[in-house]
Amino acid sequence: MLLAAQKKQIEYGDFQTPPELAQKVCQKLVEHGVNPDIIIEPTCGIGAFVEASAYSFPNAKKIIGIEINPDYLKEVKEKLSQLPNSNHIELINGDFFKFHWKESLSIPQGTILIIGNFPWVTNSRQGVIGGANLPVKSNFQNHSGFEAMTGRSNFDISEWMLIKTAEQLQNRDAYLAMLCKTSVARKFLNHLHLNNIGISNAALFRIDAKKHFNASVDACLLLCKFDRSANSQDYFVYDSLESESYRQVGHRRGITISDLETFERLSYLFGYRDTKWRSGIKHDCSEVMELQKIDNKFVNGLDETIDIEDIFLYPLLKGSDIANNRVTDTNRFLLVTQKVAGEPTHLIRHLAPKTWKYLEKHSSYLDKRKSRIYKASPRFSIFGVGSYTFMPWKIAICGLYKNLDFRLIGKLDEKPVVFDDTGYFLSFKSKEEAEDVHDLLMSPNAQDFLSSLIFWDEKRPIKTSILNCLNLDMLRNKKTFRLFEKKTKNYRVK
Ligand SMILES: C[S@@+](CC[C@H](N)C(=O)[O-])C[C@H]1O[C@@H](n2cnc3c(N)ncnc32)[C@H](O)[C@@H]1O
Repeated sequence: MLLAAQKKQIEYGDFQTPPELAQKVCQKLVEHGVNPDIIIEPTCGIGAFVEASAYSFPNAKKIIGIEINPDYLKEVKEKLSQLPNSNHIELINGDFFKFHWKESLSIPQGTILIIGNFPWVTNSRQGVIGGANLPVKSNFQNHSGFEAMTGRSNFDISEWMLIKTAEQLQNRDAYLAMLCKTSVARKFLNHLHLNNIGISNAALFRIDAKKHFNASVDACLLLCKFDRSANSQDYFVYDSLESESYRQVGHRRGITISDLETFERLSYLFGYRDTKWRSGIKHDCSEVMELQKIDNKFVNGLDETIDIEDIFLYPLLKGSDIANNRVTDTNRFLLVTQKVAGEPTHLIRHLAPKTWKYLEKHSSYLDKRKSRIYKASPRFSIFGVGSYTFMPWKIAICGLYKNLDFRLIGKLDEKPVVFDDTGYFLSFKSKEEAEDVHDLLMSPNAQDFLSSLIFWDEKRPIKTSILNCLNLDMLRNKKTFRLFEKKTKNYRVK
């Protein structure tokens, strides 16, 4: 049970910026030549950025702080008299979601800087705690408002706020400098790109969110200048506010590239081929479908000892097994009820009567699976099966881990191995073929190419959409060509 204060902190995404961080951010902006006439802190809290801005931008004609919590505004007011040009500072008690920028703010001509740190909370977290601090126009039940903007249903409140802020700024001479999750900054910049909203000087500077906010997230300072004449939306990612080294991120060939320099060096490897990376099996019912072999007996997730035929049982490797290279042995098995998606399942009754009885006995677990895909499918269906599932050799990787260690995996207990849906794999008829592709995938060029497409701060950094971008034929041809070149060179030397 959450205390009222905890609930409030979550609902308002309340993580006040430490004054020293706010000062560092303002200093960074000064270094980048930002010299605003008007500064707006749209969710100013107890005023770290109002204060830092007053010191760092003495030429600003106006600093406006807006905040929903009147007690926070009182705290800011108490500090005002000590700040330089305090008569230029205006504080407004307001709700961002109900705020009418044009009517409520008289923004004079000149360069605007929107600075701050929006609430750190997602709409689904608001749903869990029964919070109401959400965009008014979005229908929260089906998220129509935000979906219309971004096509997604779960979102960070700060992403919504950034998009709304951009709408106000796109035709002005304006800078945006916001602390936010790195994934939010990336989605926001992607949104600007997709909507042709011109920006220049865009950069992300990583910050240590654990140190400054005691939050375990990858966070950054997002900086950009709204610029209608800009024709590139590439941006730089720095390791910290102090760091000089950076990588360049941008959009090419319909995808966001995390390291443009590497991608451009290896862009000849980009392209799709017939072989597709597949996801492991989805069944949404591990209690019933996953069994462990303990003392030569099968035990399910409900701690029941099960006596069923082994015809539909396949050795299972979880994503964590793949990532930790536990791939030569397993005591886990998965009940694979279909050979292809949509295949009728009633034949199990005749082929393996004990298995069918087991499924029927536990049908209450299987029938209540929420995902819509099960409703229109034969009873006890699973997803992510096809001829590829039953091939003897696989190369697999787990999508959740932060490395590109591909594993070569053969049959276990004389049966093809299957994976859970955090694993991605290619399948092969022969060991030789699998070994050849495994060597290619572990080669420096393949690893560099894939890394150039991956954002390691994401929850599931490795995805089939990324793996499928690597054209293995091209990689093999290039390797063969290089070997040939080497051989003919040696020949010539002789
Ligand atoms: C992450 S804190 C950051 C505060 C301040 N910007 C800073 O950097 O220290 C988010 C702030 O947003 C305020 N807030 C939350 N929802 C708001 C809303 N709908 N309108 C205005 N302010 C809001 C919270 O009260 C909190 O002070």
